[in-house]
Amino acid sequence: MPIPTFYSKKSIQHFNNPKNYGKMKNPDGIGKVGNIVCGDVMWLYIKVGKNDVIKDIKFQTYGCLAAIASSSMITEMAKGKTIKEAIEINRQEIVKELGGLPAIKIHCSVLAADALYEAIFDYLFKNKREIPKELLVKHKRLKKEEELEKRYKK
Ligand code: FES
Repeated sequence: MPIPTFYSKKSIQHFNNPKNYGKMKNPDGIGKVGNIVCGDVMWLYIKVGKNDVIKDIKFQTYGCLAAIASSSMITEMAKGKTIKEAIEINRQEIVKELGGLPAIKIHCSVLAADALYEAIFDYLFKNKREIPKELLVKHKRLKKEEELEKRYKK
């Protein structure tokens, strides 16, 4: 897929009319991530039902058009999927579903994917469930970045 230099129609639609936007009451898992470079922040909340299906999902993002469109898109992609399936969603798929993102905005889609991984991690951890290795690796990377950010702010 060629990399566009402008926002796709779908990205603009998601930005103007974000799906699943807002805070969730009593979520089963919360993922909070920030972008160390631009300072944008995202929260993603999940409610998990029978057979580990994500039955509800919401997000709050303080970020750019690409971050909001990616967040909105990932909630649509993850809703109704099992936790195992949701872990498989990656940022390339989000970008593809949005009809592409400008090259300098690709990193914004990472925020949405990371927030989903963290919300799933939080859910599994709280429920003392086994955490898949790839999720643990992602969680450790995010914690390291968070530490770096804290040090940088000081
Ligand atoms: Fe910060 Fe897009 S510029 S996430």
